[in-house]
Amino acid sequence: MAQQSDLFKKLIAHSKEYGFIFQSSEVYDGLSAVYDYGPYGVELKNNIKEYWWRSMVQMHDNIVGVDAAIFMHPKTWKASGHVDAFNDPLIDNKDSKKRYRADVLIEEHMDKLEAKIQKEVDKAAKRFGEKFDEAVFRSTNERVLRYQEEHGRIRERLAQAMTAGDLAELKQIIEDLEIADPESGSRNWTEVRQFNLMFSTQLGNIAGEDGKLYLRPETAQGIFVNFLNVQKTTRQKIPFGIAQIGKAFRNEITARQFIFRMREFEQMEMQFFIRPGEQKKWYEYWKEARMKWHRALGTPQEKLRFHDHDNLAHYADAAVDIQFDFPFGFKELEGIHSRTDFDLGNHQELSGKKIQYFDPELEESYVPYVVETSIGCDRMFLALMSHALVEEEVPGSPGNTRELLKLHPALAPIKCAILPLKRNEERLVDMAKGIFNDLRFSFQVQYDDTGSIGKLYRRQDAIGTPFCVTVDFESLDDNTVTLRDRDSLAQERVPIAKLEEIIRKRVDMKQLLV
Ligand code: GAP
Repeated sequence: MAQQSDLFKKLIAHSKEYGFIFQSSEVYDGLSAVYDYGPYGVELKNNIKEYWWRSMVQMHDNIVGVDAAIFMHPKTWKASGHVDAFNDPLIDNKDSKKRYRADVLIEEHMDKLEAKIQKEVDKAAKRFGEKFDEAVFRSTNERVLRYQEEHGRIRERLAQAMTAGDLAELKQIIEDLEIADPESGSRNWTEVRQFNLMFSTQLGNIAGEDGKLYLRPETAQGIFVNFLNVQKTTRQKIPFGIAQIGKAFRNEITARQFIFRMREFEQMEMQFFIRPGEQKKWYEYWKEARMKWHRALGTPQEKLRFHDHDNLAHYADAAVDIQFDFPFGFKELEGIHSRTDFDLGNHQELSGKKIQYFDPELEESYVPYVVETSIGCDRMFLALMSHALVEEEVPGSPGNTRELLKLHPALAPIKCAILPLKRNEERLVDMAKGIFNDLRFSFQVQYDDTGSIGKLYRRQDAIGTPFCVTVDFESLDDNTVTLRDRDSLAQERVPIAKLEEIIRKRVDMKQLLV
């Protein structure tokens, strides 16, 4: 755990130092849980969005995109259930005056139990070496079994309390487990009460409740209210999907863990409209398809897992998370939800307009069912960064270490850096700038001559640039350059005329889409 939290601190510091993520309004000491993306951050984020969009929209004949407005008619949020049910259970500590999510306090207690189990496993693995069988150890070791049983009991109690909206029981769990304020150690808690997560604002020309607008807490509703518009204009037949990438806003109570839980964030959501009764089939289909999307990036299977929801959101009849092993443990990265006809049905009822699809094969009209895939772009960013950031011994140079961002080349912010071996040598500089000016038409490339070649390599490693081109004296004679691979440090001599083709092959997003 301690090691993990060191990694997390390093990741936050690295993100700032190398221009990936800054605290919002930092000059005013920052705004809590709101972040800005810097020059390399925005490139990586754009690449994540492109990968998602191309795999969902470009690669599926039956998925189309929209870009709906953030503001929506206030009735939208009544119909969607967010006005009445989009709440988190809030608890205040009377001594520290700090505010927490009651369920998160309990989950963090459970995380500690998981960490204790892991510690026992690690200790035993070290003791038994190659003979160690983790599955057997987990199912027989007394201490592990005790922790597991306690974990299971709390999990069940929490799920029941959350499903029933039983706030008194949540308080009771916190008291029974003697959970203290993580910052002050005080156990002097208020009662638990519901807190609606939507931000509201006011229309300029209407006073009072009638002019109250919400900043959307999910992008999905912009898709639902456009269902008929899109279906009619694209002549899509069910099953088909509508995809969208856009900002969402939630007034999160527990806003810690960097960009994991933000108040302003970006979602990549797809609603797949299907025949009623076919939800199980499509739910399984999208579970597998989305896991494949993550795995294509080279993320090892042990870092990803499915986790069925213990308590369902107000709109779902089945829901699963794809969890990622973040530096603070396995947490939700993406959700796949079977939303039935909850949203379209409610919009139909509240708007008084028929929102139905005539199925030519069945020769009947119905309100379509929906299976949704929903991933936070920022969480995906965090998952990628936390897996990619490594400190390793420089290959072939024992004792020397380097910080490396092993991002998939197709997602890396800069694809190639062009570096003259000597910055005072005009002919090298001119040639390097010429290569840079050619390649910039094809990729995000960078010219840099601000330090020694070793220093420039280190900097490119730290921002995840998969290739560096070095222009040296030999280049002047034979029009070849050195192409350095970020991960293996292999250097190959390649003709300048072939650079574009070689790099294109290696950074092409196509390889992720198959
Ligand atoms: N439309 C369904 C929906 O919004 P959700 O599970 O509440 O479902 C979907 O959110 C995804 O959005 C999550 O899996 C997560 O990746 C991301 N997300 C949710 N709240 C977030 C927050 N406060 N900060 C960053 N990402 C968030």
